[in-house]
Amino acid sequence: MGPLAVTQLLALISLTVALDNGLLKTPPMGWIAWERFRCDIACEDDPKNCISEGLFRDMADRLSEDGWKELGYEYVIIDDCWMSRLRDQQGRLQPEPSRFPGGIAQLAKYIHDRGLKLGIYADIGTHTCMGYPGTTLDKIDIDAQTFASWGVDYLKFDGCSSNAVEQMLGYPLMSKALNATGRPMAYSCSWPVYVGGLPPNVNYTFLGDICHLWRNYYDIQDSWDSVLSIVEWFSNNQDDLQPAAGPGQWNDPDMLIIGNFGLSVDQARSQMALWAIMAAPLIMSNDLRNLDNSARTILQNKMAIAINQDPMGIQGRRLLQEKSHVEVYWRPLSQSASALVFLSRRTDMPYLYHSSLGKLSYDAGNYEAYDVFTGATVTGLNATTEFTFSINPSGVVMCPSWAPGALRALGSAEEVVHVHPRLSHTDPFLVRLGSVPFCQLLSLTD
Ligand code: GLA
Repeated sequence: MGPLAVTQLLALISLTVALDNGLLKTPPMGWIAWERFRCDIACEDDPKNCISEGLFRDMADRLSEDGWKELGYEYVIIDDCWMSRLRDQQGRLQPEPSRFPGGIAQLAKYIHDRGLKLGIYADIGTHTCMGYPGTTLDKIDIDAQTFASWGVDYLKFDGCSSNAVEQMLGYPLMSKALNATGRPMAYSCSWPVYVGGLPPNVNYTFLGDICHLWRNYYDIQDSWDSVLSIVEWFSNNQDDLQPAAGPGQWNDPDMLIIGNFGLSVDQARSQMALWAIMAAPLIMSNDLRNLDNSARTILQNKMAIAINQDPMGIQGRRLLQEKSHVEVYWRPLSQSASALVFLSRRTDMPYLYHSSLGKLSYDAGNYEAYDVFTGATVTGLNATTEFTFSINPSGVVMCPSWAPGALRALGSAEEVVHVHPRLSHTDPFLVRLGSVPFCQLLSLTD
């Protein structure tokens, strides 16, 4: 097929595709197998940890019994390596029978019975990334129908073993096929990763029409280096990425690895804080059966979750990179609030950071702030109040705050309008925005 034919075909598909099933008005929350359990199929040696129905039932039990569901963590998502190497006689995907003897429909029922939702994984190529059967273009309809018939609620559609043309055709066609099943399913597209993650290769406007979320960048691994490289890439490219996000359409910097082996407590708080600022999906990949208290407390932090789930759905931005290697991130929130994160990328010792609301470009006004990780409330702040707090190496201080008052400079009001086409200058939150977060204040002077 020549490039012109592909363009025409894409235009035709675009005319007919819009995944508008009302899902994911806020970023999805839940659990997925991949980062922690990978492609462990050694059930004889490792029955508790291998990719099998038991693992997903265990995680559903934990989500429903340990307070996760009430906080919004609702999706239990199967990743790669669930399939049989062969399709069935009708050409349908089928789970590997020795590891999923009850089948996916029965697992879906188990998950639904606990008030949770089931996600599954497929790939627009000849094979999945781990070599299981792919969903080539001719298989898109049948696979969408199979997932719907099983009661699947979410599809992660990967892009290994496919070329650019197959991706360009396959991602919109799967969107259409999911729609056509009549079953509302969330649709997570890995397409951007496979074409570099940025315009002009990625058309984020179109992606927002056909997918609810999309992976932009490389896979997360169990290390702070990996978290940092993802944050760095997202921040360096925020002018392209940030406008793409909004209710029903989210950038996905990949899974939360909190509770695994690679992050210190400070680094775990940093991931939670930055994922909240980035309006990122809060999809954990950890072992919910063996989670220490600090990981549980961070992942279940209600204020961090509320910031992540803010109904306005505006993704935050990195505002400042100080010479001291402190970075300031900011996200506007509904109801005249905003959230700030102060991240230290230092590697020496806790750093005393001095600033004021005014320096962060907030207007005059009285502000109240809340420390997300200590719970402390600070009142009586105004734009000239100088504050100092201590940020641990690779740690954060995170604060949402609220108060009447206008946010100026950083071009914020302007910028938000620019970057977020759904909002207009007259939206009240834009003019009322203002609130500053400070936390763990060591000193305050007017
Ligand atoms: C790709 C994806 C990962 C995971 C693996 C499974 O690498 O980006 O998130 O799904 O495939 O093989």
